[in-house]
Amino acid sequence: MIELGNVRFRWGSDAPLVLDIQKLNVNVGERVFLEGPSGSGKTTLLNILGGVALPEVGIVQVNGTDLTRLKSRARDAFRADHIGIIFQMFNLIPYLSPLENVKLACRFSRRRHALAASKSSNTEEEALRLLMRMQLNEAAIMHSPAFELSIGQQQRVAAARSLIGSPELIIADEPTSALDHDVRRVFIKLLFDEIADTGATLVFISHDPSLADQFDRRIKLTDINKVH
Ligand SMILES: Nc1ncnc2c1ncn2[C@@H]1O[C@H](COP(=O)(O)OP(=O)(O)OP(=O)(O)O)[C@@H](O)[C@H]1O
Ligand SMILES: [Mg+2]
Repeated sequence: MIELGNVRFRWGSDAPLVLDIQKLNVNVGERVFLEGPSGSGKTTLLNILGGVALPEVGIVQVNGTDLTRLKSRARDAFRADHIGIIFQMFNLIPYLSPLENVKLACRFSRRRHALAASKSSNTEEEALRLLMRMQLNEAAIMHSPAFELSIGQQQRVAAARSLIGSPELIIADEPTSALDHDVRRVFIKLLFDEIADTGATLVFISHDPSLADQFDRRIKLTDINKVH
C-alpha cells in the first residue's frame, strides 16, 4: 500500500532536513503503529503519505500511484478518493454538525460517495452508522455545531469522517490523545473492526507505547529517519 524511497523533506529551502528516509514499505491491510519523540517528524511524514506535503526528492507510492508525480489538483483528488486522515487537530468544519462533517468527505469523491451509499442506503445513513459505531449516537450531539463538542467527541467525529466511503489507507495522527486509557482501547477496537471490514491499511501515530501491542507492526521513526 505504501512504498517510500529515498525521501528527503525540509520545510523551506533554508530550513534543516526533517526527514531522510531510505525506505518504508507498508503492506495492504497492515496496521502500523508509528512512534517517535515530539518534533521528530511524525506529522510531517503523515503529510507526505497523504500527499499534503511533497518531498524535495524521493518517491511516495500509495496504492500504486507515485504522489510526487501528480499535480496538486490530482493529488487532492487522489487523497479524497483513497485516503482517510484523522488529523492531530481534527480539522473539522466548526459550524457544521458531526453528521455534515462526516458526509462532507463524500462530497469531494464520487468513489467514496458511491461506496458509502452502497454500504448503507445512502451517505447520510452511512454517516449515522459510523457515528453510532463511534458511540456518538445522541441526537443532541449529532446536530450541534462541531465547535460545541468536547475534544474526545471531536476526535471520534474525525475518525468517522476518515472511514466513510472505505478509503484504502487510513492515517491517524494521535487520534486517542484526548481519550482516557480505557476509552482509547475501545476506540482502537472500533477502528480495527471498521477497517477489517474494508481491508484498509492503517498508519497510526501515538505517544502511548502501551497501545503498540494491538498492532501488526511497530515502527520507531528514529530507526528509519537518518536525520535524528
Ligand atoms: N508547517 C511547518 N512549518 C515549518 N516547520 C514545521 C512545520 N510543521 C512542523 N515543522 C517542524 O518540523 C519538525 C517536525 O515536526 P512534526 O510536527 O512533524 O513533529 P511530530 O513528531 O509530529 O511532533 P508531535 O509529537 O509534537 O506532534 C519540527 O522541528 C517542527 O518545528
Ligand atoms: Mg505531530
